[in-house]
Amino acid sequence: MTNSSSITSDQKHFAQSLPEGLDPLRTPEHIAVIMDGNGRWAKARGLSRTKGHIAGVDALKATLRLCSDWGLKALTVYAFSTENWSRPSEEVTFLMALFQRVLKRELEALILQEVRIRFLGDLDQLPGQLQDLITEATVLTSGNKGIHFNVCTNYGGRRELVKVAQRLAEKSVNGDLDPSLIDENVFAAELCTANDVDPDLLIRTSGERRLSNFLLWQLAYAEIHVTDVLWPDFDKSSLLKALLDYQSRSRRFGGLQQITSNRNKT
Ligand code: IPE
Ligand code: IPE
Ligand code: MG
Repeated sequence: MTNSSSITSDQKHFAQSLPEGLDPLRTPEHIAVIMDGNGRWAKARGLSRTKGHIAGVDALKATLRLCSDWGLKALTVYAFSTENWSRPSEEVTFLMALFQRVLKRELEALILQEVRIRFLGDLDQLPGQLQDLITEATVLTSGNKGIHFNVCTNYGGRRELVKVAQRLAEKSVNGDLDPSLIDENVFAAELCTANDVDPDLLIRTSGERRLSNFLLWQLAYAEIHVTDVLWPDFDKSSLLKALLDYQSRSRRFGGLQQITSNRNKT
């Protein structure tokens, strides 16, 4: 159990809202989620895949609320990959419209909940109206002091790394950067997640054991929790299980001793 005299007032506040059994001193700061299995969830119910995506939105709302209530600093979710364009055009069109509808509907609640939302990925390939709404949501929530909520939309880890390489090359050619000074910190500062510590925990639903091009740099030392639960069924008990699994791990970062604090800040 926790020694209450060593808990800060912030942690005391979160400890009150944390479910029994979770150690408030060892909750992850940042969780990344590959929200997978919407299609299979719908198929199992004889529904169209689109119904699975709609149900997935409810799971996302609940997860964001819990992460915020439990004092996490950041939640980064995979909503649409650079590879997802290869799906049938009706599904892609539906997803873009769903993102638009949900963001519009939820924006006020996000502002009230002090959530700071950002969209990570190649946004200029998204429909124009969605881009405008994303800009509005980003600006309106930029001063919020609550959880950082990053929605990876048209995101691909390899594309992100190539873009960083391009930017660093440009800076070097322009004489603004000495190539010999490029180290991990300089590189990471160009990533779209530069404002957050690297995820401590990656959750993937629906049982697939792969990264599917998600946060290839940032997940270098994340603990990985794979659950067979399909994303629309992911609920409070699923999140609690993931956090308990996380807290059972011994994070050594290549050394021999367990390190409980976050030392992967970049
Ligand atoms: C994840 O669910 C949502 C997106 C990729 C947009 P899927 O649509 O991949 O669901 P499955 O994997 O087909 O069940
Ligand atoms: C990963 O899921 C992308 C998102 C959750 C947005 P996919 O369903 O696209 O991944 P694969 O095709 O199974 O690798
Ligand atoms: Mg899938």
